[in-house]
Amino acid sequence: MGRRSQTLSWRQFQNKRTVVDLFTERSVYSSEVAPRECADAQRLLPDWAQDLKPPIISLAPMDGVADWAFREMCYALGAELTVSEFAPAAGIKAGVRKIIEAIGARHGKKPFLIQLYGKHPADFAHAARVIHNSLPCAGIDVNMGCPSDKVVAHSHGSALMREPEVGAEIVAALRAATPLPVSVKMRAGWDSVNAPEVAQLLERAGATLLTIHGRTQRQRFTGTASLEVIRLTREAVSIPVIGNGDVKDVESARAMLDYTKADGVMVGRGAEGNPWVFLALRRTLKGGSLLDAGRWSLIEVVREHAHLAISAGGDRRETFLPLRKHFVWYVRGIPGKDQLRVRAQQISSLAQFREWLDSVETALRNTGLPDSAREPAAEEPAA
Ligand SMILES: Cc1cc2nc3c(=O)[nH]c(=O)nc-3n(C[C@H](O)[C@H](O)[C@H](O)COP(=O)(O)O)c2cc1C
Repeated sequence: MGRRSQTLSWRQFQNKRTVVDLFTERSVYSSEVAPRECADAQRLLPDWAQDLKPPIISLAPMDGVADWAFREMCYALGAELTVSEFAPAAGIKAGVRKIIEAIGARHGKKPFLIQLYGKHPADFAHAARVIHNSLPCAGIDVNMGCPSDKVVAHSHGSALMREPEVGAEIVAALRAATPLPVSVKMRAGWDSVNAPEVAQLLERAGATLLTIHGRTQRQRFTGTASLEVIRLTREAVSIPVIGNGDVKDVESARAMLDYTKADGVMVGRGAEGNPWVFLALRRTLKGGSLLDAGRWSLIEVVREHAHLAISAGGDRRETFLPLRKHFVWYVRGIPGKDQLRVRAQQISSLAQFREWLDSVETALRNTGLPDSAREPAAEEPAA
């Protein structure tokens, strides 16, 4: 796994082949979603790396949101790269099984980056070796962006923007430990901008991909993400840089790519309840005509999303708890949404889900809103 990425630089394999749209293979999305053995999933990985060409269209890691079932839906609708919710590097010592459970690593059918946070290079190296030997992941992503007080209090996450040499040591330790590609997701800086210099340090340490959220830690989620910082960071290194922050549609993605010349865009909050954003991005930025858009009406997406989760977790309350917020987001914009939202928050079983989905369908029918309303209109040809 990851062997080719060991011998080819990211740029080399980007230029090596045209895009072969692995992600639209219908067979991959058969309705049977049984947990896959790691070895099976790992066979997909070399192709995954080779098939990514800029602009890379990716889903942001989002704790409590970008779980494996949602990531699968985003892949189905056109995302090319996703990152797991963050997991503690040190926690892997406590047992990989826990992490597998936490990030649903065995259920996903597409390769993805596993994001780790921490501060000790040895923890990351150990975690990478365990992951490499047991999980179907396509690489490790180092969290240098989380601004939360709880995380930075331990010098984790975006606190590493204050100690970038530690971030570089982590990257070097990861590269030495396994052949897995190593990416880093960082912020613009701590309280002032230092992302371009940090990026250079990380590149020298062996990072293969960087993603930059154009806000400092101090800004958290306030204000707007700076395209200028992303542009400067992109210019400072020769490895690919993905831009992140406030991308929610084709227009904002184009603005990001045009201004920063980034190698891709990462969408976070704009994908909540809206995996169709990837369909629009694939069609307009890459000409994703291979995508079978017709299948993915609102009802079909909600049904498939729930089906994935239930296939893995069973028809029980615990399966539906993390789904509820997704259901609430999905019905945003539908007339009668308030009642549908209240009911979505109470769903605890397959029977209740079916009843609720029937009501969504009825609401759509009664208001004359086509079920396919979320699909982007047939767009202009690829740029
Ligand atoms: C609910 C939520 C959870 C997040 N969890 C993570 C995480 O686990 N790891 C990470 O690197 N970033 C995390 N982020 C930050 C996002 O990946 C992204 O950088 C940020 O939301 C800005 O992008 P956006 O404007 O497209 O949302 C999270 C953001 C949100 C809203």
